[in-house]
Amino acid sequence: MNQSPPPIGIFDSGVGGLSVWREIVRLLPGVDTIYVADQAHIPYGPRPLDEVRRYADGITRFLLRQGARLIVLACNTASGAALHKLRATFPHVPFVGMEPAVKPAAEHTRSGVVGVIATPATFQGDLFRSLVARFAATVDVRPQTCPGLVTAVEAGALDTPETMALLRRYLTPLLEAGIDHLVLGCTHYPFLTPAIRQIVGPQVTLVDPAPAVARQVRRLLRRHGWPDESRRRADHRFYSTSDAAALRQAARTLVGYQGSVDAARWEDGVLREAQCSP
Ligand code: DGL
Repeated sequence: MNQSPPPIGIFDSGVGGLSVWREIVRLLPGVDTIYVADQAHIPYGPRPLDEVRRYADGITRFLLRQGARLIVLACNTASGAALHKLRATFPHVPFVGMEPAVKPAAEHTRSGVVGVIATPATFQGDLFRSLVARFAATVDVRPQTCPGLVTAVEAGALDTPETMALLRRYLTPLLEAGIDHLVLGCTHYPFLTPAIRQIVGPQVTLVDPAPAVARQVRRLLRRHGWPDESRRRADHRFYSTSDAAALRQAARTLVGYQGSVDAARWEDGVLREAQCSP
């Protein structure tokens, strides 16, 4: 009998983490996944770090109850706020977090100016400060928050005039500062790549850490002796804490996911599977 790989739990505040899910599934097509979109609380970006930490804890417990054995925080905001705490609370669970890819951008920049777009909470956390201090001390790093972009991606407004206007407003100052690398520091932003490309042109390198995250997932599976291949088709389960039908539609459009989506509900800080599915 072929031993099945254990399911990987993946979560984000919404559809952004699907940009990471897509890379994991591409690299590890035989591995089951359980994806949670905490759309009841989206956006995480403007919330206090403590609050995001509570949500990340509740979702982790939910994923572990669903059988996940490795958990990916497919969200820069949640990683910055909660990764240390989760590792301390669940010492036997391997976690993979996200961080803005400042290091590769700083290594490869020729102009010496690197733009980073992310949520306010990601820039507030110690993680971002320490990344810049460790890897980009001699580089001019320009952080830029982008209010409205997460909501635009959630609504599927990937290249509407409103979204293009927001992008122009946020990216123009970075271009004027001379960036040659733009770090996508929020997992929602890779879905805006064609729109961003239209504005920044071919000269600016866009840096998305999702493929590196997928490789880290594979390394951890192997390190724990879990198989990362299977002869049967992988099983994917999706949950939204808000509107399951809307997540189903978005997942189909954004990453071609054809399966069903279930509802999960927060009750007194505990996330539970809801009974009905759309
Ligand atoms: N996609 C998330 C991130 O990477 C969170 C966006 C949000 O909810 O504000 O930061």
